[in-house]
Amino acid sequence: MPPLPGPMRSANDLKIAPSILSADFTRLGEAVQEAEASGVDRVQIDIMDGRFVPNITFGPLAVRALRPLTKLTLELHLMVTPPEDFIDAFAEAGADTLIVHQESTPHLHRAIQHIHSHGKKAGVAINPSTPVSMLSEVIASVQLALVMTVNPGFGGQEFIPETLSKLRELRRTFAERGLNCELEVDGGIHQQTAPLVVEAGANVLVAGSAVFGVAGGVKSAVEQLLRAASGMREAHQ
Ligand code: DX5
Repeated sequence: MPPLPGPMRSANDLKIAPSILSADFTRLGEAVQEAEASGVDRVQIDIMDGRFVPNITFGPLAVRALRPLTKLTLELHLMVTPPEDFIDAFAEAGADTLIVHQESTPHLHRAIQHIHSHGKKAGVAINPSTPVSMLSEVIASVQLALVMTVNPGFGGQEFIPETLSKLRELRRTFAERGLNCELEVDGGIHQQTAPLVVEAGANVLVAGSAVFGVAGGVKSAVEQLLRAASGMREAHQ
């Protein structure tokens, strides 16, 4: 898959998005700063409400506490329902990108408008059982599409290979419609699965357990993931 030419290229650059869900919760600020020192452009913060997913994690106060510690893009993965109830609080807490799940609201288009009204980037996410077609009416309005490669709620889960075809379908859609949109994956991404998702069209790889708490530290983990992923991309250029 050749890289997109010109300005489109920035949305197509290969990136790692460390997920702090897998970081040491007694040292979240340091974890974010380690991620920044590794050269990534963002961290992903998994927001879970115990209702959309069977787990509870961070609220606006945690985002507000992390905001002044880093210049990184704070990318929030809202696994909450309804997301509309939380957009104001997280935008005001310092989020840069808010990703909402297609499955979490009947008013997905309005939720995206709401995010944009704060001047933030909007992303949409789909679970493994949700077809890509459910994004057809909003995909041209967002800056990021997230294909979940595990069922959301926990880190350290097994990658679901059946999701690869959804990446191919979305990458085709971006090309056919001339969309400047990032294609992100999340769940079970490590050195063995990174080449698979890149070959299928992903360019932003969320990784938690493959980045935090591994021997050698965050920077080397990110470098190893990028090497595994870009090796596939070079092969496809
Ligand atoms: C699931 C979470 C995880 C996390 C990454 O709800 O979104 O996917 O970010 O977890 P790993 O990389 O450990 O599978």
